[in-house]
Amino acid sequence: MSEVCIIGTGRYIPEEQVTNEDLSSLVDTTDEWIRTRTGIQTRYIATNENTSHLAAKAAKKAMINAGISEKEIDLIIVATMTPDGAMPSTACLVQHYLGAHQAACFDLSAACSGFIYALSVATQFLKTSLYNCALVIGAETISKVMNWQDRSTCVLFGDGAGAVVIQQSQEKGIESIYLGSDGRGHDLLQCEGWPLQNPMHRRELFKKATEGVFPKMTMKGKEVFQFALKRVPYCIQKVLEEGDYGVEEMDHIILHQANDRILESVAKKMKIPQEKFYSNIHRYGNTSAASIPIALDEMREQNILQKGEKLILVGFGGGLTWGAILLTW
Ligand code: COA
Repeated sequence: MSEVCIIGTGRYIPEEQVTNEDLSSLVDTTDEWIRTRTGIQTRYIATNENTSHLAAKAAKKAMINAGISEKEIDLIIVATMTPDGAMPSTACLVQHYLGAHQAACFDLSAACSGFIYALSVATQFLKTSLYNCALVIGAETISKVMNWQDRSTCVLFGDGAGAVVIQQSQEKGIESIYLGSDGRGHDLLQCEGWPLQNPMHRRELFKKATEGVFPKMTMKGKEVFQFALKRVPYCIQKVLEEGDYGVEEMDHIILHQANDRILESVAKKMKIPQEKFYSNIHRYGNTSAASIPIALDEMREQNILQKGEKLILVGFGGGLTWGAILLTW
């Protein structure tokens, strides 16, 4: 079994910045409410780009950072809950934009845990030596499934993409992985699929389809908050146990960026100094599968991550899904 290391990171954020004030002209909300409940100040929205465009731009930067050419990429996985369409996969479009023609490509759907799931899957392909080098991307244009009249969700999310290049290595890299799901919580966070459009289907659904009702995100915020407070510490504990580490040996903990209050509660509950948790939610809002690779890229760029340091990445979200990865940088 080979070791697997992250050798490059990249991010791409669309240009259009939307402030809390901007949103207060759209729905009944205030900057103060959004800041105090979530920590969010701004988010970015794609106005003329789709998920594949954001993903390809983040991926290109990660490849440059890794010093890898498109010919060396064996596998591309795009974690997204907002693909460009049902077919082709967003990963195939990314492959086309990058010219990485020999890569196997597919999308992975695990909502805000998507990047953790995708990195786990790609790692298995490399550990077993089926592939040598993979692009793992988290990319979202959540703005296209947002209900812009629902103040309880539209203030929380943003668009963006983050990517990592991983490669087989002699050195220690990704060490422990833990993933979990609970479909009983499917209705806590959802964005219904396209309604059936065949004329044999039940009348009301057919009507919905012909009226052009598109799926919009809904969320039971309080329940999701409670779920995160319970699951995130459990995820951290699981990867620590698997790697036989104590929490004090960890240098950085990178949670999916959903809400600063979740981060603060987890830090307090697990008695981990809050400085070990990276936060950029004030800038981007919740970018779902993109949030962890965006954070990793910022941390690398700012020299916050030093070689040999121990990191835990934790995702959680719709499904319900959750997961963590412990790695040496
Ligand atoms: N602006 C102003 N008021 C708002 C609002 C907004 N954007 N959104 C909701 N409210 C109102 C509610 O209608 C409610 O009013 P009411 O008491 O008159 O009914 C009031 O604020 C309190 O709402 P509540 O849901 O109790 O707030 P909260 O403290 O639970 O915070 C969330 C709401 C969404 C910020 C919080 O539940 C949360 O962060 N949940 C997790 C969401 C998440 O991270 N999801 C993604 C996970 S991957």
